[in-house]
Amino acid sequence: MRRREFLRNAAAGAGVLVLRSVPAAFAQSAGARIEILVDEPLGTISPGIYGHFAENLSGVIYDGVWVGEHSKVPNVGGIRKELVEEMRKINPPIVRFPGGCFADSYDWRDGIGPADKRPRRTNFWSSSEPASAPDTHRYDANQFGTNEFMQFCRLIGAQPYLAANLRSLPAQEFSRWVEYCNSPPGSTTLADERAAAGFKDPFNVRYWGVGNESWGCGGNFTAREYAVEYRRFTAWLPKYAGAELSLIASGPNDEEWDWTRGFLEEIARKDKDLIEEIYGLALHHYTWNLSRGKSTDWDKAKGDAVKFDVLDWYELLREGDVMESLIDGHWKAMGEFDPTHHIKLAVDEWGPWYRPGSELTPGDQIEQLPTLRDALFSASTLDIFNRHPEKVALACCAQLINCLNSLYLAHEDRFCVTPVGHVFAMYAAHQGGTSLRTHFSVPEIHYDRDGEAASMWGLRGSASLHGKELVLTAVNPNVHEAVDAQIAVRGARVKSGTATVLTASDMHAANTFQQRQVVVPKSLAAEIKGDAPVFRFPPASVVKLVLQVG
Ligand code: AHR
Repeated sequence: MRRREFLRNAAAGAGVLVLRSVPAAFAQSAGARIEILVDEPLGTISPGIYGHFAENLSGVIYDGVWVGEHSKVPNVGGIRKELVEEMRKINPPIVRFPGGCFADSYDWRDGIGPADKRPRRTNFWSSSEPASAPDTHRYDANQFGTNEFMQFCRLIGAQPYLAANLRSLPAQEFSRWVEYCNSPPGSTTLADERAAAGFKDPFNVRYWGVGNESWGCGGNFTAREYAVEYRRFTAWLPKYAGAELSLIASGPNDEEWDWTRGFLEEIARKDKDLIEEIYGLALHHYTWNLSRGKSTDWDKAKGDAVKFDVLDWYELLREGDVMESLIDGHWKAMGEFDPTHHIKLAVDEWGPWYRPGSELTPGDQIEQLPTLRDALFSASTLDIFNRHPEKVALACCAQLINCLNSLYLAHEDRFCVTPVGHVFAMYAAHQGGTSLRTHFSVPEIHYDRDGEAASMWGLRGSASLHGKELVLTAVNPNVHEAVDAQIAVRGARVKSGTATVLTASDMHAANTFQQRQVVVPKSLAAEIKGDAPVFRFPPASVVKLVLQVG
């Protein structure tokens, strides 16, 4: 089965940490070196690349985000309180809602007005819900709609990113949703409806997705057909003071370069200037095929979230590198039609996708249990985005809670932060910084891949400058060995530093409702001596160094 078919059917204890800072003369490692070039800025890291995705899918919204005002679960106006508190710690820039595939079946009007008058609808994902799923996952009582989502975004300090329905609603409904969200108080009937719900002031929603995966669940269009629809849906959208519209076109899946080219060619064929009106091109990439070349079947080629060996560990991390080639490849294709690169990439769905079976809450469709391996994968992906600040404006990890690469898992009154959630907390320090060219010269890891010699990078990451503070993050994928790397900051002097390390003695380590603190970051003070200090990056770890420079 392929992913398209899947979607079609759906429609129907930390270990011992050693972190050292010693004079360069006492460096132990065989030439491992990180060189940070302060005078070679790559661009500003858009905070938007640290974004999230919350689809109305199974337990993501209902149970994950929304528990209802009358729930015994502590909540703020129906929104899970612990989630709000945790998210505030990670400085979330943006949340994408309501889908995903769900978006192209959603009528936004169902989710406004008095909660007890809202219609109940069959959820897009209902037919692929497991038998053990509760009815709330199959039938949508629309208790969490536009107003509640805006309230959630306000509570956590994030910008809303709404995905409009291009498959099953007319273009006028897109305009009306914009009008509901953004028209000034008292100006329109919809502004009055918004005020009646307690929201006099406009939401000023800036980010709008024009459909989702329009090559598949979002309408099965060809790239050119979609471009025609895109033009129609975005022509004369209402604009209001206070909310510039940043439109994100449904983009390619994986390496479908023809989608990128076909879409942009058709847009430009009508009017080259239209290119300038597109803010972002969405790129979706899930890391799912861990079969080591044995299968391309969507079901059979997937790996297991929690049962894996060292080879599977390296395979996932190596597969994660594909993201960098996709960014480079689509950027190049975009440049053929948009030479000044007005349009940026919006990687608004990314993460590993495993076979079912690891979910903490039975019945939560496509929920999986993130382990330390997923923390390294996620950190490495965020490092990739950091290294391409001129290309990637926005990215959303799929998905926020109770789903694929989730930061949080929750069920009723139980809750935990996953290792992925901790990575987002560590990496928030990069937001808005100046990405710096950084070279990692570290010996490769060699291993046996089904009888063939294989290798992968030994340490990799990214660096950003924030005034006098330099943030370096790095992933050591080596399951067995630490890396002692000399850190040379070219163009500045390191005065002091602190380190945060995320690791565990078992590569399968995960946090659960019963054991919430198995994988948690540890902070260490580092004494800096000499111009090129040496740090020990523990095996299987994510490390953040915050260096004061002068
Ligand atoms: O994240 C789950 C699904 O994956 C989304 O709904 C869809 O856009 C993608 O195919």
